Amino acid sequence: MKIRFTLNGKNVVLESAPLKRLLDILREDYHLFGTKESCGEGECGACTVLLDGKPVTSCLVNAIHVNGKKVDTVEGLSKTKLGKMLIDCFDETNAVQCGFCFPGFFVSTYYYLLNDGDNDLEKIKKALSGNICRCTGYQRIFDSVKIACARKKVGE
Ligand code: FES
Ligand code: FES
Repeated sequence: MKIRFTLNGKNVVLESAPLKRLLDILREDYHLFGTKESCGEGECGACTVLLDGKPVTSCLVNAIHVNGKKVDTVEGLSKTKLGKMLIDCFDETNAVQCGFCFPGFFVSTYYYLLNDGDNDLEKIKKALSGNICRCTGYQRIFDSVKIACARKKVGE
């Protein structure tokens, strides 16, 4: 089937099997390798992207559900002002070790910030509860999100 959607702000058309996973579409058809696969079962959050502005695990979304929608990946979001600020915050707190989980945490945090997320630790934990990190013990990630919340508030 032919699917039409908006990918990182550009309108695209793709011939795809209806059940092809969005994760595979991004990596194989568009070479957007920032979106990672780990569990492949919706459990780890490594493959998180925004679909019509909401975070989804792209390993569980099929082509047929992307038709007519808007997809934003780490590659697109990281070029925005908010995305650049967020990357700086992760960098400053050394919140990235192997980096495999980073795109998923980045997209989930981006959504949290866009939706008036504040620096309440419990709210941050809840917002990022779908993302797993095997390296950092999470504290540095939470610290970076707190800093990002503060900077967003003062418009940095
Ligand atoms: S690879 Fe999609 S949630 Fe783990
Ligand atoms: S930094 Fe390695 S999995 Fe999170």
